[in-house]
Amino acid sequence: MLSVFFDGVPDPNAPPPTDPKVAPGGPAKLEDQSAEGSVHSPYEQRKCELCHESQMSNRLKMDKSVLCGSCHTRDQFEGAYIHGPVAMGDCEICHEPHRSSFPHLLRTKGSAVCGRCHTPQTYAGLETHKAEKGEDCLKCHSPHASNQPHLVK
Ligand code: HEC
Ligand code: HEC
Ligand code: HEC
Ligand code: HEC
Ligand code: HEC
Repeated sequence: MLSVFFDGVPDPNAPPPTDPKVAPGGPAKLEDQSAEGSVHSPYEQRKCELCHESQMSNRLKMDKSVLCGSCHTRDQFEGAYIHGPVAMGDCEICHEPHRSSFPHLLRTKGSAVCGRCHTPQTYAGLETHKAEKGEDCLKCHSPHASNQPHLVK
């Protein structure tokens, strides 16, 4: 009904339409992924209604800013210093909600995700970064929170 009469409402019985790699019949199993890809466990188990209003709706059950935190509790990211986007509950700026071609549901490969907000001009001048060329941010920085200033691990 929904998908026939309303534009933009996907067939609730179809596999998630977001992902061209999803085979008919349901979300792909882990073995269909490239070696480094990742699938969110509630999505893989088709527990769509844990996040969506129902299996027939794309609408989220709750505001985006609290959705992820309803399972991933605050103390997972505890530290004296919390990263800006994490404090805002904006997990999706870095993570996919369903699946990704990269580890940990990241939207881009490793540190490339940092470059979406931090341009070299804002940090390249620091001595620490000059020496290391600041490539692998995660070698030194935590993406979520830290007890050290500047999110240093
Ligand atoms: C962990 C929470 C979570 C689970 C579980 C989940 N989703 Fe989603 N889904 C989201 C979020 C977050 C969005 C993005 C919504 C937005 O941007 O407004 C989304 C978006 C969507 C969309 C809209 C298109 C898109 O990709 O933006 C569809 C369709 C969808 N989900 C289907 C499903 C189906 C089908 C399942 C179960 C197999 C499922 N989702 C399971 C969190 C989830
Ligand atoms: C219904 C509960 C639930 C919700 C809501 C939820 N998650 Fe998860 N998430 C899980 C479970 C369960 C795992 C698997 C934990 C494990 O394997 O230790 C997981 C794992 C993850 C991982 C690690 C994946 C990996 O391969 O390392 C990330 C990243 C993640 N979730 C991000 C999110 C984001 C972003 C949101 C909001 C869009 C979200 N989660 C909402 C239950 C949830
Ligand atoms: C600025 C980007 C960014 C934001 C925002 C972000 N994450 Fe992450 N997250 C990462 C990166 C990068 C990794 C991989 C860490 C690694 O490789 O050591 C990761 C790993 C994870 C993991 C798996 C490994 C672990 O540390 O437990 C979970 C679960 C997770 N994030 C959940 C979340 C949730 C929930 C939110 C929102 C409250 C969030 N993340 C916000 C970048 C981010
Ligand atoms: C969505 C945008 C966004 C993304 C993506 C992002 N950051 Fe940030 N980051 C911020 C904001 C906002 C602040 C807080 C404002 C400030 O201190 O400049 C911040 C602050 C920082 C700081 C400085 C903290 C301090 O106290 O001086 C470091 C270090 C940092 N981020 C590292 C990273 C790393 C590493 C990544 C990739 C894993 C990343 N950021 C991805 C937005 C982002
Ligand atoms: C070799 C370790 C190392 C690497 C790699 C690294 N950083 Fe840093 N970063 C630091 C340290 C240490 C500081 C604290 C300032 C200082 O002591 O120079 C810092 C500070 C920062 C700050 C805060 C600057 C300010 O003035 O408040 C930002 C933003 C930042 N780093 C982003 C990044 C990004 C983005 C990457 C990856 C492209 C990265 N860093 C890679 C060690 C590193």
